[in-house]
Amino acid sequence: MTGPFSLSARALSLKPSATVAVTSRALELRRAGEDIISMSVGEPDYDTPPHIREAAVQAIRDGRTRYTPVSGVPELREAISEKFRRENGLHYAPDAVTVNSGGKQAIFNAFLALLNPGDEVLIPAPYWVSYPEMVALAGGVPVPVPTTTPTTPDNGFQLDVQELERRVTPRTRLIVLNSPGNPTGAVFPPEALRAVADLAVRRGLGIVSDEIYEHLVYGAEQVSVGTFAPEHTLTINGASKAYAMTGWRIGYAGGPKEVIAAMNALQSQSTSNASSVGQYAALAALTDHAATARFVQGARAAYRERRDLLVSGLNALGLPTPTPQGAFYVLTDTTRLHPDELEAGRLLLERARVAAVPGTDFGAPGRVRFSYATSAATLQEVLRRLAEL
Ligand SMILES: Cc1ncc(COP(=O)(O)O)c(C=O)c1O
Repeated sequence: MTGPFSLSARALSLKPSATVAVTSRALELRRAGEDIISMSVGEPDYDTPPHIREAAVQAIRDGRTRYTPVSGVPELREAISEKFRRENGLHYAPDAVTVNSGGKQAIFNAFLALLNPGDEVLIPAPYWVSYPEMVALAGGVPVPVPTTTPTTPDNGFQLDVQELERRVTPRTRLIVLNSPGNPTGAVFPPEALRAVADLAVRRGLGIVSDEIYEHLVYGAEQVSVGTFAPEHTLTINGASKAYAMTGWRIGYAGGPKEVIAAMNALQSQSTSNASSVGQYAALAALTDHAATARFVQGARAAYRERRDLLVSGLNALGLPTPTPQGAFYVLTDTTRLHPDELEAGRLLLERARVAAVPGTDFGAPGRVRFSYATSAATLQEVLRRLAEL
């Protein structure tokens, strides 16, 4: 583009999403009246629980509608500090906690605060699409690190600490961990996390641990890597996935105070505080323990049933799908449909009228991600359509 608004190198550097084509085709088909089932969404299909919504309404009535401290209201930071202690065994004082507009902003603030041009960030692959893009926007260099290949329906996508260490160079600054992970659903066991923590300490690296799916685990042990190397870990979390609060935009981070202070300074010059009403909603989620636990347990049990239904159905159809231990995604080997996952995604859409996300942008060639944050009846229908295909 030329003229007064020529785009910056930064804007131009954003990788066009390979999956946009599939998404826009899905919208086009839907507009044309086709009955498309979306298996591509990354959010719970539940509404935010009533006690949280009520707290937000009350906050509005009470006039809690003004600017708050950039780092978040003190009550919420205290509740987060207490949550980290109670649920994760992490000891972050309230001034070592920052509240942001979504976990996404927390991660972006962290990369902006920690990376200089050329700094390398190790990212186990398959990864959430935004990590490499955010690292690059912050001037860093994303370095994908392969995880283990699934060999049975029960394993795969696990950390290979030797692979991680092999990629450490003098420019390496950070390791990103995401357990339970998007798009794999993999949960990293405590011994692997301890090994990464040891690596970080030995090589003087930081760990950015994105634990946003921590409550969605199905039997596996979920441990915070920060318990093994507190000084080397920044822990990211948020309200979106656990409490069905994606639209409220509340995320948070706990970590070494200087890092949190730098993240706050950056946020003060960009978006300031996260929404005041959203913060009071999150406060209810974190302090009304009984009501929140009831919701989380119910959602977890439902996701688990849906996972089992989808995974066994896909494997029975000859589409190899490892059983993820967490989150609400499965990553299916679609090479039998087509060796190229974009083509496989297109086939699923055009011929089965099922929209899923090709693994291209996730660093998962030959695979397609299905989200099972949808009803069991819908999953049955998806499997019926795939069987026809
Ligand atoms: C792995 C992971 N981290 C972070 C986020 C960010 O969520 P939010 O910004 O809604 O808190 C997402 C959302 O899809 C995610 O999948």
